[in-house]
Amino acid sequence: MGGDECVIVVREFDPRKDIASVEEVEKRCEVGPSGKLSLFTDLLGDPICRVRHSPAFLMLVAELSSTKEIVGMIRGCIKTVTCGKKHSRNSKTNDPMEPLPVYTKVAYILGLRVSPSHRRLGIGLKLVRRMEDWFVQNGTEYSYLATENDNQASVNLFTHKCGYSKFRTPSILVNPVFAHRLPVSNRVTLIKLSPSDAESLYRRRFSTTEFFPRDIDSVLNNSLSLGSFLAVPRGCCYTQRSWPGSDKFLSAPPESWAVLSVWNCKDVFKLEVRGASRVRKTLAKTTRIVDKLLPFLRLPSIPEVFRPFGLHFLYGLGGEGPFAARLVNALCAHAHNLAKEGGCSVVATEVASGEPLKVGVPYWKRLSCDEDLWCIKRLGEDYSDGSVGDWTKSPPGVSIFVDPREF
Ligand SMILES: CC(C)(COP(=O)(O)OP(=O)(O)OC[C@H]1O[C@@H](n2cnc3c(N)ncnc32)[C@H](O)[C@@H]1OP(=O)(O)O)[C@@H](O)C(=O)NCCC(=O)NCCS
Repeated sequence: MGGDECVIVVREFDPRKDIASVEEVEKRCEVGPSGKLSLFTDLLGDPICRVRHSPAFLMLVAELSSTKEIVGMIRGCIKTVTCGKKHSRNSKTNDPMEPLPVYTKVAYILGLRVSPSHRRLGIGLKLVRRMEDWFVQNGTEYSYLATENDNQASVNLFTHKCGYSKFRTPSILVNPVFAHRLPVSNRVTLIKLSPSDAESLYRRRFSTTEFFPRDIDSVLNNSLSLGSFLAVPRGCCYTQRSWPGSDKFLSAPPESWAVLSVWNCKDVFKLEVRGASRVRKTLAKTTRIVDKLLPFLRLPSIPEVFRPFGLHFLYGLGGEGPFAARLVNALCAHAHNLAKEGGCSVVATEVASGEPLKVGVPYWKRLSCDEDLWCIKRLGEDYSDGSVGDWTKSPPGVSIFVDPREF
């Protein structure tokens, strides 16, 4: 590589001319270790698909000035989320016992890639810095990203070079979609909530959970959101027909209840596991065929993951009471059946490492990620609507709200 080639220009992604070259870099970045399984992502021809549902987003590319070859890219988005809670001073309008959320403007970095032929030249660092400039210009207080714990290059780049610190380690739980339907416990009643009912329930009960997006209404009303479901013990006074609305429900809730919402990632991107041996693929296929033929056996068949497959993401998982985890389990069975109807191979969710309702979520350890590392950096001060100090230094809450737009 000549010295001249190393002059890098960072500019905004242009969908009219950059799609093919960006896809080429993505492809080159995804060459997994030979002989090992690796996960490929197909962005279905839309490089900004994973940020375009956020209130503000930007994609930058790094280009060699001499040849105009694209050798790297980064995506970022900005939104307002909860970073803490405070108690109301105005006891006339608010219950003084009920905490209120403290919001802050955060930016999320994702999809950073540098072509393997141009690594360790400072391109990744340059892309991150330029993205952070845009975040700061837009009044963002924090910037964060998720990475695999063992991605040394990425962890070093962010923590050693860019001033990020390790912040949270939520778990990604992935469960296969079987060829048979899962039974939903007959001791549970499921109620489908309208987006506005789901919004008021989430705002009243979960708006103080960290990372709760203030624009939850635009998440719930997005066409990728397939619905919000509430589970209550059968026999309590709430059913789909007698549903009085979230406000009345929350003023007299049953002893236990749980809620979750489903997001259709299948129409955003597809995944594919590559590098599996023929034996493994045949074995998986056999389990599926048997499961399809004999669904009453409820065989835990291995889903189709060796060809591009889609997934549903479960978000907004929460609940209260001693049986909430059991109710979550029924909601997950329902979500499994929705994913089966939707032609997905897996269902995924992401919860705080200490989330008490985690026990209700079925998942296969081999498909899941115990510790998804979230790193954070404070970019500015005094933006949030109330002082909670430095969020980056705060201990984790029991729960975390993982935005489906960023999964
Ligand atoms: C992570 C990635 C973007 C880094 O891009 P890059 O242009 O090579 O990074 P830079 O040259 O700017 O490196 C900056 C610093 O990051 C760290 N770093 C980068 N690559 C590293 C590696 N392979 N091992 C250890 N540290 C590494 C170093 O601290 C480096 O500084 P140094 O070269 O002075 O030691 C690139 O390796 C990549 O595309 N990886 C695959 C995709 C990926 O993992 N993306 C991150 C997801 S969040």
